[in-house]
Order: sequence, then structure tokens, then C-alpha cells
Amino acid sequence: MKQAWWKESVVYQIYPRSFNDSNGDGIGDILGIIEKLDYLKDLGINVIWLSPVYESPNDDNGYDIADYQSIMDEFGTMEDWEHLLKEIHNRGMKLIMDLVVNHSSDEHHWFQESKKSKDNPYRDYYIWRPGKDGKEPNNWESTFSGSAWEYDETTDEYYLHLFSRKQPDLNWENPQLRQDIYNMMKWWLDKGIDGFRMDVINFISKVPELPDAPNPDGRKYSNGGQYYMDGPRIHEFLQEMNKEVLSKYDVMTVGEMPGVNMEEAKKYTDFTRNELQMVFQFEHMDLDAGPGGKWDLKPLKLTDLKDSISKWQTGLHGVGWNSLYLNNHDQPRMVSRLGNDKEYRVISAKMLGTFLHMLQGTPYIYQGEEIGMTNVQFDSIDDYKDIEIHNMYKEKVIEGNENHDKIMKAIHVKGRDNARTPIQWDASKNAGFTDGEPWIKVNPNYSSINAKQAVEDPDSIYHYYRQLIQLRKTHPIIVYGDYKLILPNHEEIYAYLREYKGEKLLVVTNFSKKEITFELPSSVELDNAKLLIANYDVSENEPYRKFVLQPYEARVYKAE
Ligand code: NOJ
Repeated sequence: MKQAWWKESVVYQIYPRSFNDSNGDGIGDILGIIEKLDYLKDLGINVIWLSPVYESPNDDNGYDIADYQSIMDEFGTMEDWEHLLKEIHNRGMKLIMDLVVNHSSDEHHWFQESKKSKDNPYRDYYIWRPGKDGKEPNNWESTFSGSAWEYDETTDEYYLHLFSRKQPDLNWENPQLRQDIYNMMKWWLDKGIDGFRMDVINFISKVPELPDAPNPDGRKYSNGGQYYMDGPRIHEFLQEMNKEVLSKYDVMTVGEMPGVNMEEAKKYTDFTRNELQMVFQFEHMDLDAGPGGKWDLKPLKLTDLKDSISKWQTGLHGVGWNSLYLNNHDQPRMVSRLGNDKEYRVISAKMLGTFLHMLQGTPYIYQGEEIGMTNVQFDSIDDYKDIEIHNMYKEKVIEGNENHDKIMKAIHVKGRDNARTPIQWDASKNAGFTDGEPWIKVNPNYSSINAKQAVEDPDSIYHYYRQLIQLRKTHPIIVYGDYKLILPNHEEIYAYLREYKGEKLLVVTNFSKKEITFELPSSVELDNAKLLIANYDVSENEPYRKFVLQPYEARVYKAE
């Protein structure tokens, strides 16, 4: 397998609004990030992925960009950003930026021009259509509820927005738009950045006729995913982007791809096709959603997780490359979702970290994960800030007839703001995040869960993550070894083997709070294995073919 720095890296995601505020306005900023770079260096990560810091009206916290080449005032200046890049590089780390080019903000000057008239030179930078029988051009629904079309009276047409109405979709059919984007990308790369995370990049090619989506349950709008996910020209566009831009630099690329399947992911990441290096697929994030979608809560079955992870581990092996994640700014906190955020918070967070970091692929740590931050339960809907939550609440409770308590419960479990409460740096006021009033409330558990405590405690999740990261740097089997699931039908234990150049790794994790006996199937050969890492005290001499796992226990053995 071809070796590459981005395969051997561990990435840390910063969601700047919630990371660290240096000037007391209650909003995280770039100078605040610089203050914490040594903390990240000590953790051992190699790459920082910075969520959008560009000029934006913040309808979707920066994922609605008004100017791709300037920095949002709340976050600082371009000089601050240049200073950040320099300080990251000085510490031997790399920086990848968020590229949000499926849509822009409606305040971008391209859109301001585009809406002026049908013959404006920027008209075709966006997707405009006349109404159909006095209604929207088709029945597609926005990810953030309601129709994906907004009427604009200036030209008596509708524009497409797969996200909020302030996030009009860009028209990738237009070669001039594509060139402008490639030039913008080169401009950032020439400043010295090390790659891009590409926002919903598998949405950029739409089926040109924009047909109605099937809607068997007769709702007002319907998910039109099949007409814009992995659309007809997507591979052509990415190959063009690669040829014109990416191939000219030694960079890392990861495409966020809701709904992507294995067949398409192979095409996106197959290095002989020159598209992207990795994708963020969502299959494992959708396993606890019922037929009604994200807000329809369903307990996760461990065997479903095994099927999904194993499929991706073996499917991309030798073809492309996996990204590994259990958290990001759009997902609830992993310890609340898959672990136990009460009596086994520390143990289960370490178990989940072990499970993920021993897989093949590039691991991503989301800010706060390394200290085991948990979901939050605000009592009032007004304490939530996320547009997705508010639009959904309005549609289901205010305009619909869903029960308030039921929807609040779903928000507590699945809402994106679970990941967006400020980072808990210490036990002082506002968790040390800001001297001012934080833009979103801090999680009240910050007096016991915070980075200061974690750094001082040698048994913390933070120090365990440091070990996991170091192990990846010293054992190539963790990066490059192949993967084999064992005990596929077990509903509590997730165990797998890795193999590389005559070495073997055995990873055993207990996803439950029960004590359970693990037994290695007799068909598995594993001689002279030594304990590499564990989240409980385990005697070196304890037999490794059969042992009792404590609640949420994780052990890794290595044989040479
Ligand atoms: C995916 C991003 O991760 C999410 O935060 C955002 O709301 C949508 N794309 C739209 O940009």
C-alpha cells in the first residue's frame, strides 16, 4: 500500500466559534486558537481542520460564506489568520481549511448580482427556475426543513437552496463559476495551507431537469437526494478540480459526502482516478435514526455498527482510504451517544477512542472529544442557536402538531448544538472560554469536566488519547494493517484483528456496562501477544485468549 503523510496523520477539528475567545465578545476567535496551539501540539495531533472562518452573516455559523477570501470580523483579521498558519507550521503541524462551494451566502456579491436580472453575467452562477403552476419548481425539501426553493420577486423566479434560504446553491454547470472557485482554492493553497475539507461536495452536480422526487407518503415536500447526491457530473467536476488545482500541491483532501455508498466512495478515493483522498461517509452516523429520519430516535444495535464499519474497512482497503470519526460539529457527543456519560464517562470515552483509533484510516478528533465532553440538555428552545434545530422545531411543533416534550427530547439526543457548546477549558466562570457572555450557554458540567483537570490527571481521557496518537506514530500496523472482524454476532463486544507484514493486533472492546467473558475463536492464531494499551489496569500476565471484560473495557494486544 502506498504510504502518505495524510494516512499517518491524526486530525483535530476546530469549530472556531466555540473554541476559545481571546477578546471577551463571547465568540471564539483566531487569536484564541493560537493561545491553545501548544495544548494541541502536546496532544500529538498532526493536522488541524478549521471549520469556516470566512466572512459570513452566520445564518449557519459560517457555512454560509459571503466572501471566500476574507476573514469574518468576529474571528479576527487576515493578519491574524496568517499568524495562525505560521504558528501551526512552526509547531510542525498542518492546517486544512473548510471549502464550502456547494452553496454560498445570499450576501455573496455573486448572488447579489445574480438576483438583479435574468441577463446579469452572474445569473447562471446559481440555479434559477420559474415556478410551476404557481408553486415551487419541484418538490425538493431543504435539509433545514421546508421547500428547497425560495421565490424572488425581482425576476419572478425561484432559486434552489438545499440548506437555508440564505445558502443558495451554486451552479456547477457553469464553467466560469468553476474557474472562479479553482482560482480561489489556488489563492489559499499559495498562502501555504495543507488541504481542504470539502463541505457536502457530493451535492454539487444536480440532475439537470431537476425532476420531482417520488413522494409515496404524500408530504408537502420530499427529499430529492437521488437527484443531487453523487449526481451525473460529480466525478468529472472533481477530476477537473484535481487536474486544475489539487494535483499541483502536496495536500490532503477529504470530501464530506452525505448518502455516499461504497461503490461511489471507491470512485472518489481510488488514487488512480485522481479525485479526492478520503470521504466522510455517514452510514454509521445514521444507524440510530428510525424511518422518520434523524429526529426519529432509535437505539443503536452494535451488530449494525459492526456491519457498517466492517464494510467500509474492507471495502476501501487497497483501493481508497477511510476517514475515521464518531464526532464533529454536526453530531451529538460520542460519549453520550455510544458510551455512558454518567458513571462510565471516562472509561467509555477511552473505549470509544480505542475502538476508533485502532481502525484503518485517518482518525479525526473533534474539539472537546479528548476531554470527554458530553451532550447538553437546555430546557428552553430559546437556548438553542442552531438553524436546523429551530427550523425543525417550528415545522413540527409550532406549525405542526408534534408534542413539545418529544421534540425537545430528540433535540437533547441529536441536536447539533450538543457539539457546539463552548470548550470547557477550566472550572472558572464560563469554563474559561470567554470573559464575556458566551454566544451559546456552556454545558453546566464544566466544573468537573474541563481541559485543565484532564491535563493534570495522568489517568484522564486526554492522556489516553495522547497514547493512542503515539501508538499510531510508532506502529505502522495501526495505519496500514488490514482488518478482520471477529465475533460478528456478539451484541456487546466489538473485537477485530489487524495484520501487517507478519505482525498482528487484537482489539477487544466492550460496548456495554455488563461484565462479559471474551474468548478468542480457536481458529485465530495469535502467539506471544503483548498488551499495548488498555483502559483498566490489566496484568501483563493475564491470558489474552480468554478473559473477563469490565464495563466498557478496551484492550489492544500486539504480536510480532
Ligand atoms: C455540512 C456542514 O458540516 C454543516 O454544518 C452545514 O450546515 C452544511 N454542510 C451546510 O453547509
